[in-house]
Amino acid sequence: MRISVLTLFPEMFSALEHSIVGRAIKGNLINLNLVDIRDYSKDKHKRCDDYPYGGGSGMVMCVQPIYDAVMAADPEHKAKRIYLSPQGKLLNQEIARQLALHDELLLLCGHYEGVDQRTIDLLIDEEISIGDYVLTGGELPAMVLIDCVARYVPDVLHSGDSVEKESFSDGLLEYPQYTRPEEFMGLKVPDVLLSGNHKLIEQWRKQKQEEVTRRKRPDLFK
Ligand SMILES: C[S@@+](CC[C@H](N)C(=O)[O-])C[C@H]1O[C@@H](n2cnc3c(N)ncnc32)[C@H](O)[C@@H]1O
Repeated sequence: MRISVLTLFPEMFSALEHSIVGRAIKGNLINLNLVDIRDYSKDKHKRCDDYPYGGGSGMVMCVQPIYDAVMAADPEHKAKRIYLSPQGKLLNQEIARQLALHDELLLLCGHYEGVDQRTIDLLIDEEISIGDYVLTGGELPAMVLIDCVARYVPDVLHSGDSVEKESFSDGLLEYPQYTRPEEFMGLKVPDVLLSGNHKLIEQWRKQKQEEVTRRKRPDLFK
């Protein structure tokens, strides 16, 4: 999968060089194309933001450099073009799964007061939010989206079924997990998990999924 990210702060994406996503990028399972919007500014000082028409506080990202950057990164509109925005559709597991079906994504990160509305009108297929709060920029949301989409890209996760058995995959949260040692500070691993009886373990896990979901996310359980 190819993911182009349009940003004023490409260096922030060094966070993706590590762990599972880093391995996926190094192994070419994900081709991350970082595009510095500033490179496309026609302003002699390479400015990419200006005062809002109509007044008000803050600066707005200008349409011209973003337009040219999108045209360079995705000239034939092969990518699904997404603007990370607090006004967008709330990201969830199902949206991530659907996005992973695309061969190409283009993610636009806003900053300051956001982007000139004509950017969205001319270029963007969908706005996606990572939650009902406002961040300073779209870079962290883009990294969140890349991380959760990457988990659905074939071969990114070694264990094929781990995306299928996690929280939200079947509408419930995941059951509690334990690993060695069998006892720590007086707390023991539940006997059933040591029993080797797979049927009983399955039953216990299902029951725990329901208990945990009812307690932590009654809205989901409904
Ligand atoms: C300070 S925000 C702009 C907020 C905008 N003025 C508004 O009130 O809707 C700057 C940028 O951060 C990003 N951003 C902030 N919060 C976000 C969220 N919850 N989800 C996705 N992107 C977000 C967007 O790219 C946005 O353009």
